[in-house]
Amino acid sequence: MKTRAFAKINLTLEVLGIRPDGYHDLRSVVEPVSLADVIEIEPRRDGRITVETVSGGAVALDALDARPEKNLAWRAADSLRRHAGKPDAGADIFITKNIPLGGGLGGGSADAAAVLNALSVLWGLDLPVQTLAEIGAETGSDVPSLVFGRTVLMEGRGERVSSWPAETPDLPVWHFVLANPGIHSSTPAVFKEADCTSRLTSAGEITDNMRLAFSSGDPRLLAAAMQNDLTVPAQRLYPRIAEAATALLEAGAMNAVLTGSGSTVAGVVRDAAEGEAVCRKIPGGFRAVCVSSARWCNGQHSGF
Ligand code: C5P
Repeated sequence: MKTRAFAKINLTLEVLGIRPDGYHDLRSVVEPVSLADVIEIEPRRDGRITVETVSGGAVALDALDARPEKNLAWRAADSLRRHAGKPDAGADIFITKNIPLGGGLGGGSADAAAVLNALSVLWGLDLPVQTLAEIGAETGSDVPSLVFGRTVLMEGRGERVSSWPAETPDLPVWHFVLANPGIHSSTPAVFKEADCTSRLTSAGEITDNMRLAFSSGDPRLLAAAMQNDLTVPAQRLYPRIAEAATALLEAGAMNAVLTGSGSTVAGVVRDAAEGEAVCRKIPGGFRAVCVSSARWCNGQHSGF
């Protein structure tokens, strides 16, 4: 089976507080976008899970840890096998990486989510997407939100995920330019820095503003509603992130907001043509790509 693992951007990201387990309670609208890793999976019957990763060309793999247990795709397959009680189930997983590492685009989590969806079919489990989300939560906080293959609202540590804004397939298709400053942002370091920052979070109006943007389909409302509580702490640790945001705004993007804990910044544009024009104006020190909303068929697995 050959499938795509879409990157995500956080259209909103609110850090609501620190939890007793050291993680943070979040509320985030998560949008899959068209930048994708390609994943090829062959099932095996000898209980072995192998993962091979190559670069699609534009992505440096130096920061990739070669140990299988550090690989989110391997860990997702291993978790699914344990839940299914099928010790003989195995797979060869071949990943072509196009999503930068440490960029806040959820690349490793997207790979894990795609592996869960694919192996659920290949191993004959056909599990509901909510069950795959629960299994994915063991692999990483971003995995549950990415198994849905559509816009979702993510809450808690990341394990509470619901289709958002509603169970409708005709959500607006948004267009973005992603500017990556080529640095690897450390998620734990950014969250730690956030603990020292005074924050203004809302009782829900940030998500309400985003809901209005979705019902209007107006990219100007989307741009105005985007916000990320990790922006200030991430920029303090990595000043190049602020430079990426400035480059996007100077090139004509409507807003430029950090995704996840960085280092990528997403700028909103009206359409693909405007995206191409903005991309061309981004200085050479940043990797700029045009992307749009990428959703599987309303959360079903038929997008493979
Ligand atoms: O769950 P995951 O391994 O993806 O999280 C990576 C790191 O991000 C955690 O070790 C933690 O420092 C931080 N994190 C957090 N709160 C979350 C998600 C992640 O503090 N909700």
